[in-house]
Amino acid sequence: MEIVFAEVRHIKEITEIEREIFSLPWSEKSFMSELEDKNSIFLAAEDDGVTVGFAIMKTYKNEGEIYNIAVSEDLRRQGVGDKLMARLLEEAAKRGVDTVFLDVRESNAPARALYKKYGFYDLNIRRGYYDAPKEDAVIMIRIRAEGNG
Ligand SMILES: CC(C)(COP(=O)(O)OP(=O)(O)OC[C@H]1O[C@@H](n2cnc3c(N)ncnc32)[C@H](O)[C@@H]1OP(=O)(O)O)[C@@H](O)C(=O)NCCC(=O)NCCS
Repeated sequence: MEIVFAEVRHIKEITEIEREIFSLPWSEKSFMSELEDKNSIFLAAEDDGVTVGFAIMKTYKNEGEIYNIAVSEDLRRQGVGDKLMARLLEEAAKRGVDTVFLDVRESNAPARALYKKYGFYDLNIRRGYYDAPKEDAVIMIRIRAEGNG
């Protein structure tokens, strides 16, 4: 399994993973436009030529926002999410990002645990932020300090 920068050849499988997981999925077109955005760090996890996960962070100067991180359902709990997150933060640090935000459904325990493992903490609750189903968002933040990557 390796983590690479996403390319056009990954987009079909990424769109499929997205559709399997999310009730309001991004379109293939949205993913394509991320490939062209210089402010995006767009990573794919590849296993024997098959795309098994992806992650996107948008950066602006010293700040980043994680838009999404997802792993195919049948390959979860095998460290793919770990590798995607570690690389995302590494690439962000190279670009001078010192603060990263994200939002996550309150009920999404696996994702919240992953973020916590990588030094994010809960900053605030955004009431009723998500649709389908309606749910609060937890806003999380990670501030990079000496020794914390
Ligand atoms: C969140 C997600 C990306 C994790 O991917 P993964 O490849 O299964 O994660 P890993 O196996 O690398 O696990 C990394 C860490 O995540 C956390 N984690 C992952 N799955 C978990 C679960 N089911 N329960 C609790 N913690 C979990 C743990 O902290 C784990 O570290 P540990 O193994 O040392 O305990 C995956 O569950 C997923 O794709 N979920 C659906 C998409 C999604 O909700 N994305 C977030 C949108 S904001």
